[in-house]
Amino acid sequence: MKYIYDDLKDKNILITGGAGFIGSNIVHYLNRYHGESKIFIFDKFRDNTTFENGNLTSLGHFKNLLNFKGEVIVGDLANSNDLKKLDKYKFDYIFHEGAISDTTCKNQELIIKTNFESLDYFINKIKESEGVLIYASSAATYGNSKAPNIVGSGESPENAYGFSKLLMDMKLREIIQNNEDENFKIISLRYFNVYGSREYFKGSTASMILQLALQALRNKKVKLFEFGEQIRDFVYIKDVVQANIKAIEVNKSGIYNVGSGVARSFNDIVDILKLHIGDFEVEYIKNPYSFYQNHTQADISQTIKDLFYEPRYTLESGIKDYIDEIKRIYKDTK
Ligand SMILES: NC(=O)c1ccc[n+]([C@@H]2O[C@H](COP(=O)([O-])OP(=O)(O)OC[C@H]3O[C@@H](n4cnc5c(N)ncnc54)[C@H](O)[C@@H]3O)[C@@H](O)[C@H]2O)c1
Repeated sequence: MKYIYDDLKDKNILITGGAGFIGSNIVHYLNRYHGESKIFIFDKFRDNTTFENGNLTSLGHFKNLLNFKGEVIVGDLANSNDLKKLDKYKFDYIFHEGAISDTTCKNQELIIKTNFESLDYFINKIKESEGVLIYASSAATYGNSKAPNIVGSGESPENAYGFSKLLMDMKLREIIQNNEDENFKIISLRYFNVYGSREYFKGSTASMILQLALQALRNKKVKLFEFGEQIRDFVYIKDVVQANIKAIEVNKSGIYNVGSGVARSFNDIVDILKLHIGDFEVEYIKNPYSFYQNHTQADISQTIKDLFYEPRYTLESGIKDYIDEIKRIYKDTK
């Protein structure tokens, strides 16, 4: 069987948010395995602006793109003039990863404008080229609904970020219902808790795996919300890239969960980290958040069926694969 993704030669591929964690991993994958495809990145990168919560408003970093091959277009998703810079190009595939990814940002107007409103531009672009648009949705669309999380049920976000992603998915549902997507395809991937290489520049919004590992290496002690038993679906970046690449092949539009399919606790992360970096102390503290996801778990049955997605990493093997990079980050930031 010949896959389309065997042959991305000379295809124009846009990655929005390409300077961020997941986007840059897609860029490097394509550079490595599909070196003759033409890569374009659209990203705002970072400046000194912060949200009320003190976090940077955009988290892209040039260091995520060291040694990459392609073209960079700098722009803001929330600025229609910046998006016009893309007008002159025709893209066969668009991986739309750019977004305000900070789930604790309270600026509803900016989140919805940046994450949701900009989707229209990329839908029109992919319509024009009759290509495939794959965009990043999120497990935040499920809020605190009962797990396992199934596409189409319990879609009740608890924050503006999750709401912006659900709006994107509702728009896609409308397109599918009206059969508007005969000549193009749109795939929404609802990522769960992603961890792995190139997430360091997300700072305090990076995964619990990285944050706990760095706390343990630096202070020989980590802090967990009482009593570390909250369970989440942690999915390794290589599986997320796999889902994106496989989505290229899908012959119908749709919304898919991308997780490991298994929920693991913060205490599990601690136990696995201890195997790699030795013993450290755990201090349990009160959880200050009124909203906190206590159990997320992706139902990935449809993703396996339609995308042939197969998560290859458990929490154990994902951390094992990642730990050398974490140790390197620790040394470089000492
Ligand atoms: N990492 C996760 O666990 C996770 C989980 C669910 C969904 N997602 C989604 O996946 C996508 C990628 O997330 P990530 O973890 O790589 O986050 P990230 O913050 O590292 O990447 C987002 C990128 O978008 C860029 N960006 C932000 N605002 C922009 C704007 N106004 N204009 C142009 N570019 C802008 C940033 O500079 C950054 O490079 C996002 O859409 C995010 O919502 C991530």
